[in-house]
Parts: sequence; structure tokens; C-alpha cells
Amino acid sequence: MKSEFYETRRMFDLKLRPRRLRKLQPLRFLVQETRLSAADFIYPIFVDQRLTQRQEISSMPEIDRIALTDIPGEIKEVISLKIPAVLVFGLPHRKDSLATEAYATDGVAQQAIRAIKKTAPELVVVADLCLCEYTDHGHCGVVHGGIIDNDETLELLAKTAVSQAEAGADIVAPSGMMDGQVKAIRTELDEEGFADTAIMSYAAKYASSFYAPFREAAECAPLWGDRRSYQMDPPNRREALKEITMDIEQGADIVIVKPALSYLDVISAARAEFQVPLAAYNVSGEYAMVKAAARNGWLNEKPIALEVLTGIKRAGADIIITYFAN
Ligand code: PBG
Repeated sequence: MKSEFYETRRMFDLKLRPRRLRKLQPLRFLVQETRLSAADFIYPIFVDQRLTQRQEISSMPEIDRIALTDIPGEIKEVISLKIPAVLVFGLPHRKDSLATEAYATDGVAQQAIRAIKKTAPELVVVADLCLCEYTDHGHCGVVHGGIIDNDETLELLAKTAVSQAEAGADIVAPSGMMDGQVKAIRTELDEEGFADTAIMSYAAKYASSFYAPFREAAECAPLWGDRRSYQMDPPNRREALKEITMDIEQGADIVIVKPALSYLDVISAARAEFQVPLAAYNVSGEYAMVKAAARNGWLNEKPIALEVLTGIKRAGADIIITYFAN
């Protein structure tokens, strides 16, 4: 007896049944187009010169600021998780208008880099290269009369890059969005004998409100004004491609789009247009949102984190900088 259902079903062409490939977990795994692994991640660490023991960052649950003496333990954990790289942020013991501690030989980042390389010579060490953690006003450059002086800042960034390379950084990551920073850094590194030090440039970095927890973590919120005179305006996508083009021309080896989640279209467009490795920064606010919802019992943290990271990779990122790495 033919049911009404059967009759209806025959009306469709059901030779194509995508569900066939969703039947079993190993089968779903076999046809996965995007596969996430620890090898994709860079894990940011915050090293605070003033601390003698680690301290949790309140707006970034389970992420600590660590003391220099915590480095061996922290790095051993990173290694055991098979994470290939760390991104080092330093909180200095003092700040001034010229960000002196950013390029001091015994600056906190330089000491941290040396300690990491001593613990794990094979771990890739990326040094965040910006002045905002080191200036007393919290801006990413030298300030004159309320204006961030682009070209004077370049000299300090170039000096900082050399000091980080000297300390053992494999990659420097300029994040200040000063015009010409990649060229200035590449030139100085080459002149000082660091032709092998790579540059991972925060090429398309937006003036985003998602950085708020980070600014607490790194104590780098600007004292006055905001960063909109140097970071990009969120509505712009073509401009991001222009920024990336310029950074690659200036010698960037890897480029970053930041933040990630509200800019997946930018990641996807950059992937289609450029050949260099592409990184995306899953920033502090994106992390904090998931953590907050999970703590309230509104979302299940682990699958959400994996879905977020998979989405960023599917959009086209080769590398993901994320606090979820561990
Ligand atoms: C600045 C810098 C920022 C972040 C990384 N490097 C903050 C800013 O531009 O204000 C943000 C990272 C995050 O939110 O996770 N050197």
C-alpha cells in the first residue's frame, strides 16, 4: 500500500542526500573541510615585571598576568599542549613619555623573551611590538601637543624591534598602526644583522571596543582620547586590503586581521587576495563574552570556543591568536 508520504517523497529528486555523509562521526570527520588543531594557535602571555606571583585578570577569567619567575612553568604547559608559538606582552616597572622600557636591553619583554628561549629554544617567540604598554599616556606613539607623531614613533619602534630580536624573538609583531612601521622595522633589523627575524604585522587593526579587557590586562588604556587617529574605522573593508597590500610591500612576512569575529569578511577577502600567511586575532573581548556567558550557564564553553575558532579558520585564517589556545 502506498502511503501519501511516499507519494509526496517521490515528487522530489532524492538522488542527492547530503545526510549520507553525516551518518557516522568518522565519516563526518573524513569530509571535514576545516580542521582545527593546536598547531594553528598562538597563545598570548602577559609578563608583569612588578609581580612576584601570578595574578588573574578579572575581565579575562583564567588568564593571568605572570611574573618573570613564572615563565618556565607557563612555557612548559604551552609545550605540553603542543602550541607552537607564544605572543609576548610586557608590563614594565615604569612608564614614561618616550616608552623607554620598550627598548631597554633589560626591559620586561626582553627579559621574558630570553627566559622563554632558555626554557624552550624550539618554541616560536613572537614579540608584540607597540609602545602603549610603555608610555605614561597609554598611546601607541610619541605625543606632541595631543597629536601622535607618526615618524618620530617609527624610530622608537625600530629600536624596540632590534632589542626584541637581540633578546631572541623569532618574530616581531608591530601593532601600533603607524604608517610605514613595517618598512622602518625591516630596514633597521636588516642593518643590525637580524635579516632572519620575521615580521608579523597587525596590518588591518580596527579601532575596536573589543579590546577593553586587554587594556585592563596590559594597563594600556589611553589616558585621554582614543586610538581612532591610527587604528582603522570598523566600517571599512577595502581600506583593510590597502593596509595589507602596503605592509606586504614593506616586508611583512605574515599579516594579521584584528579583531576576528566582527571582521570575518575581511579575513575571507584577505585570504582570497594575498599569498602570505594570514593570522586572525580572536581578541580579549571576544574571549570575555564567551567566558561570561559560560559562567552564567548560558552557553557551554568548550563547544562554543571550538565553533568560534573553527569559524575564524573557515573564513581563511591560517593562524589564530587566541586566549582559548590552552
Ligand atoms: C596594543 C594592542 C592591543 C591589543 C593587542 N595589542 C590593544 C589596543 O590596541 O588597544 C588587543 C588585544 C586584545 O584585545 O586581545 N599594543
